[in-house]
Amino acid sequence: MNRGMNRGTNRVLAHTGARYPILQAPMGWIARRQLASAVSRAGGLGVIETSSGETEACIAEILAMRETGLPFGVNLPIRFLKDDAILRFVCDSGVRFVTTSAGSPAKFIAPLHDAGIVVYHAVPTVDLAMKCVDAGIDGLVVEGAEGGGFKNPEEVSTLVLLQGIRARTDVPLIAAGGICDGRGMAAAFALGAEGIQMGTRFVSSAESPVHHNYKQAILDAQETGTWVLNKKATPCIRALKSQRTQAYFAEGLMPVDALKGIQRSYFDGDMEAAPALAGQSAGLIDRVKTAQELIDDTVAEFFAITARLGALASASHFG
Ligand SMILES: Cc1cc2nc3c(=O)[nH]c(=O)nc-3n(C[C@H](O)[C@H](O)[C@H](O)COP(=O)(O)O)c2cc1C
Repeated sequence: MNRGMNRGTNRVLAHTGARYPILQAPMGWIARRQLASAVSRAGGLGVIETSSGETEACIAEILAMRETGLPFGVNLPIRFLKDDAILRFVCDSGVRFVTTSAGSPAKFIAPLHDAGIVVYHAVPTVDLAMKCVDAGIDGLVVEGAEGGGFKNPEEVSTLVLLQGIRARTDVPLIAAGGICDGRGMAAAFALGAEGIQMGTRFVSSAESPVHHNYKQAILDAQETGTWVLNKKATPCIRALKSQRTQAYFAEGLMPVDALKGIQRSYFDGDMEAAPALAGQSAGLIDRVKTAQELIDDTVAEFFAITARLGALASASHFG
């Protein structure tokens, strides 16, 4: 399939160099070359994580992505960076597109811009979005509370957040949280997004490096299959329901080292070793697909829905 979006009018395409404005979300240890290159090869944008804190391994992943010649991005989770080594490396390494998250991007924007890098920041509220715009951000990843992983305890849905931010600023928006197909993509575009980012959908893709048990747990989950945990402390997270997360939910808190076993969940398939990060869209996902299938299906469904809406607009009545 080669249905393009117009690079002239879609700023996310212009900023990322991808064929489609579909990003694979940064996910610690998971969002590395195997998954990111499959997504970029399929026409989306693979994003390399640095939230694992494994600076040397992440540098090796970025270099491997650069070798492929495919477009890709890097995520810098500000609060979790031990020092500025990865920032310095990214600025010197020819990376074109960076998403920042977890903290204020103000100090990061100037060095990244000086290196010719486009910077989007992930925001869970309208207020933070406006602070980023005032600081000179190029675009925003608008992250609703439906999504998996680290969350703002003041849960605002993607639906409300996108509308609230679009009403206040004209910068390009990438919608994230609860999106796993062309329906979600069309809805996000109707609300003013120019791109989407998917985490839960790509962690359950064929090329995702996580254990079969992790993917199966996502396929098995319903839309009610996740909790938001640890709202009164940090990190606040959305994770799959399990014996362990049920206890944390009942307690209202989780131990500070609760995520220590996350790699055992990801790669050994021990689903009780740590809270298994995933979003509400797990309830919409019932099959493992390759990145290529996923992106082709999403784009085809997006255009089928927008064609229907276009016909509705041309008719100018509801039928
Ligand atoms: C398994 C998993 C791991 C994640 N790990 C991280 C992470 O390390 N750093 C981060 O900023 N976000 C992380 N996230 C959040 C994603 O980057 C993204 O914002 C979210 O998945 C989007 O919502 P969705 O899951 O509904 O697609 C993670 C999400 C998942 C599902």
